Amino acid sequence: MADPKAGLKKLHIKTYGCQMNVYDSERMAEAMGAEGYVLTDDPAAADMVLLNTCHIREKAAEKLYSDLGRLKPFKTAKPDLTVAVAGCVAQAEGAEILRRMPLVDLVVGSQNYHRLPAMVKAAEGGARPVDTEFPVEDKFDLLPDRPAASARPTAFLTVQEGCDKFCAFCVVPYTRGAEISRPVDRILTEAGKLVARGVREITLLGQNVNGYHGQGPDGAWGLGRLTRDLARIEGLERIRYTTSHPNDMADDLIAAHAEEPKLMPYLHLPVQSGSDRILKAMNRKHTAEDYLRLVERIRAARPDILLTSDFIVGFPGETEADFQATLDLIGAVTYGAAYSFKYSARPGTPAASREAVAAEVADDRLHRLQALITRQQRAAQAAMVGRVVTVLFEKPGRMPGQWVGKSEYLHAVHVAAPDLRPGVLARVRITASDPNSLAGELMGDYGPRRPVLAAV
Ligand code: SAH
Ligand code: SF4
Ligand code: F3S
Repeated sequence: MADPKAGLKKLHIKTYGCQMNVYDSERMAEAMGAEGYVLTDDPAAADMVLLNTCHIREKAAEKLYSDLGRLKPFKTAKPDLTVAVAGCVAQAEGAEILRRMPLVDLVVGSQNYHRLPAMVKAAEGGARPVDTEFPVEDKFDLLPDRPAASARPTAFLTVQEGCDKFCAFCVVPYTRGAEISRPVDRILTEAGKLVARGVREITLLGQNVNGYHGQGPDGAWGLGRLTRDLARIEGLERIRYTTSHPNDMADDLIAAHAEEPKLMPYLHLPVQSGSDRILKAMNRKHTAEDYLRLVERIRAARPDILLTSDFIVGFPGETEADFQATLDLIGAVTYGAAYSFKYSARPGTPAASREAVAAEVADDRLHRLQALITRQQRAAQAAMVGRVVTVLFEKPGRMPGQWVGKSEYLHAVHVAAPDLRPGVLARVRITASDPNSLAGELMGDYGPRRPVLAAV
């Protein structure tokens, strides 16, 4: 029998950066799928390599150039290999990438992915197209429909994109453009299709996702209302959203955490610093006290919510006292986990021209902050031992006969159970806490002979 994939071209995608890039890579893979491309993990086997890049810190952006260097032998061996650069470095640097790297065939900015198939055709014809315009049309309307089947029970769904906040350190307002919210009906339709193909958990994405204000049937809807409507989709069991800004945490969204069981008790709420002086210099437009009061209100609505944050250490002008205020805030909040970064000056941002904190001082602060966060993370995990959680199973674990999934709190949980399958939702008693995951045992019946525990 003829191989149905024979004659199809192979596409290798490497994704850097945030979840929105993961989502975008999926949509681009689907767009190229409609052109006869299938995905491959092996760049050596590929007819096209797509690098979906991140510009957030210098190191992230530089990865593009080292990876392009590594692709050179592949291009020499196969001169008609198409090398495409997408994402936030593409948006920020555009044609400069073509000048610096002759092996690159096309550069597609973050808002132009619907044009990728046409750009690939132009590149095959010998052109080196660059498109970093912010178009008037909506790329999501013009990208092909989501495919019918997926092996994964979780999915991302972009509902809001871009940022108007202009934090002094951040490139996102320049790489993703002005804030836009997708209309409610498109989101409900896309979510319905994801659920029909087996997805049981959707994470709504946006750079300021809680600032969502999309057009609904009766005016603009906030994220709380959108969440409540999504929760009515039968078969969708869990809703998450990320990333939120403290100033956009509306009362209705906080109330949804108390009232909507499908909304998971987990919230990534970056604060960046605990020093009012630094928060002001960062243009965050709130104080440490505002943030602590907000955390209180959120915890009053949903006492078990697990909070996470991002922190930047060594922001220009940060003194030891400022840094201590950040440690104090972390002590006051108690996080389940957090990401922390050494400040990286980014071209074109207001903070880039300010005097940097010495590298060794920033390194030392990063280590101290991470040590505190690690202690809090371990304590949060240890506190789960003995508790019963609900786990959405995703895949077999590293050990034979093991399955792993995520609890409501986004903890990775593994159990001994050889015959689970992706998408099973089951109650698990947590028995032990490892550094990066929890171990547990399934409670009651589950699995193929019994109906899957959908409602627990
Ligand atoms: N929209 C989100 C996060 C965007 S970027 C928010 O408002 O919080 C993700 C994280 O990268 C940020 O929260 C910040 O902690 C970090 N980050 C952004 N720019 C940075 C820079 N120039 N140097 C170091 N870290 C940075
Ligand atoms: Fe960047 Fe600030 Fe916008 Fe977040 S809110 S994307 S940190 S400018
Ligand atoms: Fe990076 Fe762009 Fe996301 S800069 S963090 S990929 S929005």
